[in-house]
Amino acid sequence: MNDDKPTPSAPPRMRPERVEFAPSILSADFLELGQQVQDAFEAGVRRLHVDIMDGHFVPNLSMGPQVVRALRPLVDRYEATLATHLMVSDPDRYIETFARAGANAISVHVETCPHLYRTIRTIRSLGCSPGVALNPATPLGALEEALELVDYVLVMTVEPGFGGQELIPEGVNKIARLRRHLDRSGLWDVLVSVDGGINEATARAVADAGANVLVAGSAIFNDRASIADNLAALRDACSGGQLGDAPAGGVAARGRPRSGHSETSGVL
Ligand code: DX5
Ligand code: ZN
Repeated sequence: MNDDKPTPSAPPRMRPERVEFAPSILSADFLELGQQVQDAFEAGVRRLHVDIMDGHFVPNLSMGPQVVRALRPLVDRYEATLATHLMVSDPDRYIETFARAGANAISVHVETCPHLYRTIRTIRSLGCSPGVALNPATPLGALEEALELVDYVLVMTVEPGFGGQELIPEGVNKIARLRRHLDRSGLWDVLVSVDGGINEATARAVADAGANVLVAGSAIFNDRASIADNLAALRDACSGGQLGDAPAGGVAARGRPRSGHSETSGVL
């Protein structure tokens, strides 16, 4: 992997300079799902995160394609993206089902895909944006060969399966290493999404590390405040930092806490 600095002829940076929050409806009140999603859209959200769990890859069950189908007209009205996060053991069996139900983006876990190129190409061939998710202990190197094919990487900062867990702090450094590698590889436009434990206390750190999309469930859908107020608080927590001022090396290059990994080795 080439760790050289970008050459003067490198293309201009294309990645978004501000972060976007993607509410995970896993924590929504399902009796009020339509209204809560609409409230999120009214508050400026344009990306919805729908968690699909099979009780096998993860120890929980959630929802199926009928929820995606039901939300589709609302998502269309706001010209938003509906991203499904497939936490299932055999995603190849369900990709077409979710694409036909109305997903615009589909992420699969690298741990579940022995033929990742084919899976990613299938997602794209169905008109959806492909993403690859990886569990907290899965090394970034597991998706190195596939990075050029995906539109986004979903970095899990909790063990998948449940909302309301605490962020595993090692994930911040992982995001920084991924963003740095993407930028140095010319893959400016591959989005880094982070999922799990995002709240007012953690959002800034992952945004500064280079995450572009912050998935949040329990911090947005809760009894403490309205969806709009929760989103405003999350956005406030991220403002005033290094966002919107991304240097050529990317926000990931700026002194985030480091673990044992070298950020200069260029090895994912
Ligand atoms: C966990 C899911 C997440 C979950 C996040 O397996 O993939 O999307 O909803 O919930 P919070 O934001 O509460 O950690
Ligand atoms: Zn998720």
